Amino acid sequence: GSGVGATLAGGAAVANAAAPRAASSDDGESPAGAGRGDDGAEVMPFFGPRQAGVATPPPAHTRWVALDLAKGASLDDLRRILRIWTEDMGRLTQGRPMLADHAPELSQDPRFLTVSVALGRSAFERVGRDDLAPAWLGDLPPFATDALQDRWSGGDIVLQIGSQSPTTCAHAHRSLVTGAGAAVRPRWVQAGYRRPSERPRWTAERNAMGQVDGTVQPVLDGPDDHLIWRGAEDGIWSGASTLVLRRIAMNLDTWESLDPAAKENAIGRRLSDGAPLTGGGEHTPPDLTATTGSGLPVIDPGSHMRRAMPRAAHERFLRRPYSYEETHDLSGGPLEAKDTHRSPHGLLFAAYCADAERQFVPVQRRLAEQDLLNIWTRAVGSCVAAVLPGVEPGEHLGESVLA
Ligand code: HEM
Repeated sequence: GSGVGATLAGGAAVANAAAPRAASSDDGESPAGAGRGDDGAEVMPFFGPRQAGVATPPPAHTRWVALDLAKGASLDDLRRILRIWTEDMGRLTQGRPMLADHAPELSQDPRFLTVSVALGRSAFERVGRDDLAPAWLGDLPPFATDALQDRWSGGDIVLQIGSQSPTTCAHAHRSLVTGAGAAVRPRWVQAGYRRPSERPRWTAERNAMGQVDGTVQPVLDGPDDHLIWRGAEDGIWSGASTLVLRRIAMNLDTWESLDPAAKENAIGRRLSDGAPLTGGGEHTPPDLTATTGSGLPVIDPGSHMRRAMPRAAHERFLRRPYSYEETHDLSGGPLEAKDTHRSPHGLLFAAYCADAERQFVPVQRRLAEQDLLNIWTRAVGSCVAAVLPGVEPGEHLGESVLA
């Protein structure tokens, strides 16, 4: 992946990758290291220093499942759950039934299944071992534009389950939660979708507002790794990441009443192909200095892109967005933030970074201060969790960090 230098409003020059792609992958589309098993099953590797499901290409279906540890749960309970899950995930992701599989037929069609396990700071507190939580795992500060609801926020344990098949996601979800037994209780589930393709792909695609979303991303498996992963200097936490999941409701009713020029101005990019309003193609860097005939900036200072762009080299992270739709109650019953948002559509905005406070918060703060998109969007859920380091055969998830 080749980065292009962009000079920013703040004067800092940083490398912005045009699109995420594995430095080692030839076409940027095949999941790095993914293969087909003997039986033709489409599998993602399970073992490795980093868990799959973060930098691996996003499949069409993903659900995040938050669980809380039961009252009185101990560190041993947490370790036991992670041991069971490691065994089960090692099988399910490779298309093999689990040891006690209630529906082994459903386990044989992984369709690039990945499961990643993350722990919220509250998990460490719940088992009375705050001392084991890494310093970089904190809560986000409140933002003026938030309208957070408990039912979409927080969580001791957050599982991310992704596959090309929603049937596979549902089976993995049910199996893993069942396997954890009485030591956990469900908190929330948030399911999202992307446009299906034959194989998972790292391409930008249209969100429910119709914009091409996911264009500017760090380079994967290369020079930007430090933005996404904890490094060797972190010792037992090396190979971990931070998930920031924001559930963002959209008001499509008012958005859809805008004319195309106003929609494009809100982002700073064209609707047709996602190119910056200053021209070129999707991956052309925007010209922030360009002005119109009347002397106004072509890319509005309040546009989402301009506000979200890094002002320092570390203000970057991986975005893995999914669309969501509330389908359970469209009959006039309570919808999210119903005062302004009649639409049941939104974005599961998932960011992965090494340090949320340092990388994510400055960007989110800037967007909360000013972002034209805020007129139509509102965060209704939020959670931060540490994605555990990956495992090698014989190890289990969390083994080193919960020792
Ligand atoms: C860029 C949409 C929320 C951070 C973009 C782009 C679109 C978009 C269309 C331009 C294409 C691209 O590079 O992907 C949305 C929508 C949101 C949302 C619809 C909410 C519903 C957020 C949030 C953050 C964020 C909450 C972070 C706090 C970014 C960043 C970029 C970006 C970092 C790339 C900026 C650059 O360097 O050019 N977003 N976004 N977005 N967005 Fe968002």
